[in-house]
Amino acid sequence: MGLTVIILAAGQGTRMRSATPKVLQALAGRPLLGHVLDCAAALAADDVCVVYGHGGEAVRAAFPEAALRWTLQAERLGTGDAVRQAMPETPGGNRVLVLFGDVPLLRPATCRRLIDETPEGDVAVLTVDAEDPAGYGRIIRRDGRVSRIVEQEDAGPDELLVREINTGVLACPGDRLRGWLDRLGKDNAQGEYYLTDVVGMAVGDGVAVHGVKADDETEVMGINDRKQLAEAERALQARLVDELMEQGVGFADPGRVDIRGTLTCGKDVYVDVNAVFEGDVVLGDGVRVESNNLVRDSRLGAGTVLHSHCHLEGATTGENCEIGPFSRLRPGAELASDVKVGNFVEIKKSTVAAGSKVNHLTYVGDAEVGAMVNVGAGTITCNYDGADKHRTTIGDRASIGSNVNLIAPVTVGEGATIGAGSTIAKDAPAGQLTIARARQRSIDGWKRPVKKGTK
Ligand code: UD1
Ligand code: CA
Repeated sequence: MGLTVIILAAGQGTRMRSATPKVLQALAGRPLLGHVLDCAAALAADDVCVVYGHGGEAVRAAFPEAALRWTLQAERLGTGDAVRQAMPETPGGNRVLVLFGDVPLLRPATCRRLIDETPEGDVAVLTVDAEDPAGYGRIIRRDGRVSRIVEQEDAGPDELLVREINTGVLACPGDRLRGWLDRLGKDNAQGEYYLTDVVGMAVGDGVAVHGVKADDETEVMGINDRKQLAEAERALQARLVDELMEQGVGFADPGRVDIRGTLTCGKDVYVDVNAVFEGDVVLGDGVRVESNNLVRDSRLGAGTVLHSHCHLEGATTGENCEIGPFSRLRPGAELASDVKVGNFVEIKKSTVAAGSKVNHLTYVGDAEVGAMVNVGAGTITCNYDGADKHRTTIGDRASIGSNVNLIAPVTVGEGATIGAGSTIAKDAPAGQLTIARARQRSIDGWKRPVKKGTK
């Protein structure tokens, strides 16, 4: 039987008090809806449909993947109406799994339980025993089976005491679901078409409804406001760090790290407190990340140490490099092995070959730095003439003195030495000392000016 996943994302999310649609709010660096789409993708559904709302074009635009089917729910008439909008294009004979765009922590394995543990022709709802059931639909059971779901607003005093709640996740035989949705009414406290009324109809038609209980309440939490978003963020971070620790990654404090993307680690990686990883980050064997670092879309080679307070984006390093403290590696910074980059050094769109050192207060941009080069403190590649960027090339084993300006385009030859304080506007030949600064002189008998009237 084919599987259609219908994701409801037409809600406005007013409680977020944000100009951004709720399902586009970021959780671990990815929109809420993205997490639900990942879950759907892991289920290998042959049809994934997102129901989006009026003004939700931004939601659609955020996921240009062609494999998705988008259905507009023009008016927000309830969860039942939302699913109904998705039905005409749902392939006949498919089983339908309904997910909510604002329930992002749901694991594929839990959905699998719903799908695999219940017969295809039956209905299955994912439930959970809630610490505080307020606001949720209550699961009403008779003889162990689910007989209906009653919304908070419609519940009587006894029903309000029930702690087993509806998570919103529902599996149904699609063709039966069509019929039930067509019969939905909105004679209820909220005047909406409730998807949950499908359960009572199924029971009335003699179809068994299974309540499958999730083990973990946080996994099925819905995000309605900023507090819940922050809570979900911590829960997801804890999950990501747990997975990495199981793979052998060491963390000084699992509660003080944030992964907003994919962090892939080799053996014996250690991460100190307050590290933020964004996008695609790869840390080779034995990499150490000291405290307070931001690493975005970068790869660090085995044995590399990232000292405190660095900002890396789009950078790669070879093995055994030492970066920081206080270094900034910008997109296109490519370091070979055994390179040292020290404090207050910025490197952009440049290659630095093996064994070179750029230790202090330096800007290297649009440059090719050879192997075993030493770049002295305060060196600047003057790469920008106000209109265009130009390249600087530094040969192997060159030594650049402190406070040197390299006015690009310029080449420093292999083994060349540049005297401290030089402004280099022409190529410096290999093997020679090039020095370009005013000659020092001392004036004999010179008197410092004295203010009139002082003795
Ligand atoms: C719903 C369930 C409730 C359950 C709770 C779990 C119903 C009637 N109630 O209540 O039993 O305990 O979720 O979180 O289903 N949406 C649309 N179009 C609509 C209305 C909603 O797409 O017209 C989407 C929302 O964007 C959201 C989801 O459906 O992703 C749930 O809607 P919401 O209004 O939050 O339902 P709840 O009142 O929380
Ligand atoms: Ca909700």
